[in-house]
Amino acid sequence: TYIVTDNCIRCKYTDCVEVCPVDCFYEGENFLVIHPDECIDCGVCEPECPAEAIKPDTEPGLDHWLKINTEFAQIWPNITSKRDPLPEAKEMDGVPGKFEKYFS
Ligand code: SF4
Ligand code: F3S
Repeated sequence: TYIVTDNCIRCKYTDCVEVCPVDCFYEGENFLVIHPDECIDCGVCEPECPAEAIKPDTEPGLDHWLKINTEFAQIWPNITSKRDPLPEAKEMDGVPGKFEKYFS
């Protein structure tokens, strides 16, 4: 599966949702997640993300993010079309450790 990782937080560009053939993105206030059981591993969303936040879960060190995607995909609503990015997207793009800064 592919998963959404840290750099989506407070950017939420949403280019990714437009290309997903199975509509498996789910939307929180500050970032999106992918439903790992619905993702068919096609990989087309990965290059679409301007923040480079989408990764295959086969990359090392992403266990934490697989858990976050799995958990929130079950409670957040589905999103299938692009919206405006968050107003702070540009300045937040590339800020390291966003999850620790804003969610704990
Ligand atoms: Fe959707 Fe394909 Fe991305 Fe999975 S890899 S979230 S199926 S676009
Ligand atoms: Fe987030 Fe990138 Fe999609 S910033 S909303 S994963 S296009």
